[in-house]
Amino acid sequence: MPTFEHLSCPIDRLPLSLQERSLVCAHGHSFDIAKSGYINLLPVQNKRSKDPGDSKDMVSYRQFFLNLGHYFPVVKNIIDQWPDDFTGSAACRILDAGCGEGYYLHHLADEFKKQELKTHRLGLDISKWAVAAASKRDKETTWIVGSNASLPMPDACLDVVLCLFGFPVFSEFHRTLSERGYLLLVESGEDHLIELRQILYPSIHPFKETHSSGVDGFKLVKESSLHYPFTLNSQDEIQHLLCMTPHIHKASYEGKEAVKKLSTLNLTANINFRWYQKTIVGDHNAE
Ligand SMILES: C[S@@+](CC[C@H](N)C(=O)[O-])C[C@H]1O[C@@H](n2cnc3c(N)ncnc32)[C@H](O)[C@@H]1O
Repeated sequence: MPTFEHLSCPIDRLPLSLQERSLVCAHGHSFDIAKSGYINLLPVQNKRSKDPGDSKDMVSYRQFFLNLGHYFPVVKNIIDQWPDDFTGSAACRILDAGCGEGYYLHHLADEFKKQELKTHRLGLDISKWAVAAASKRDKETTWIVGSNASLPMPDACLDVVLCLFGFPVFSEFHRTLSERGYLLLVESGEDHLIELRQILYPSIHPFKETHSSGVDGFKLVKESSLHYPFTLNSQDEIQHLLCMTPHIHKASYEGKEAVKKLSTLNLTANINFRWYQKTIVGDHNAE
């Protein structure tokens, strides 16, 4: 059963308490828990569109592709690099900010269990389709529809924020992380899916490093990369990958037609991992 600790009202930030199948704040703002167990904490006034985030189709394409297991090395890398500060009796409070359909947090939970590491896991995404899918996949994590732009959580309530291929909002990550809490950014590297991009585009834009000048309020403590080959063995698999990426909207008609002719595709996964630690005012080790 998920628990609903570490959540606050998205309208006035007051604590939320469980009343039957709703979470309610002292001002009477009430949020129903869905049948599959997730909670929608994205009020209409915080939505920029009627159906924000990834569409139902994109979520199912991503779920199909991720379940093929080609990105499981991402889970392994996160576990291998996990900070060793959290081995005590208190559960490590983790937020996956922009969790999609929950693939990574779910597999991380399995690995944490194997290592007997206690965790309290929250997965948040702005797409209700993604969160609904995640809540069917894993019943022990708290799944939330919400926005990174205004996290429905009190200050300093988290130990680790994960942002995987997502949309980081550093001020909110900083606010919700505890003193010396960690932020992990996982992003595509220069060669990521290069073979697919070479088919889709007449020329490839030069790679731009993100946040190369640092991230306000955080210091970089660890960096690593994965670079490995994998193969898609059918047109169906290739289309699922294409449709879960922004390339489906950006690529030319000719590029997409060329991809439709393939029955197999050898690809490179190139993924960068950056662990940051929250710095506090007056910390002389801070950058
Ligand atoms: C490229 S997907 C990555 C999903 C997941 N982290 C993964 O790697 O499988 C980006 C996700 O960010 C979500 N998203 C977009 N804007 C967001 C926001 N402001 N707050 C939270 N999630 C957001 C989308 O709905 C989508 O699920």
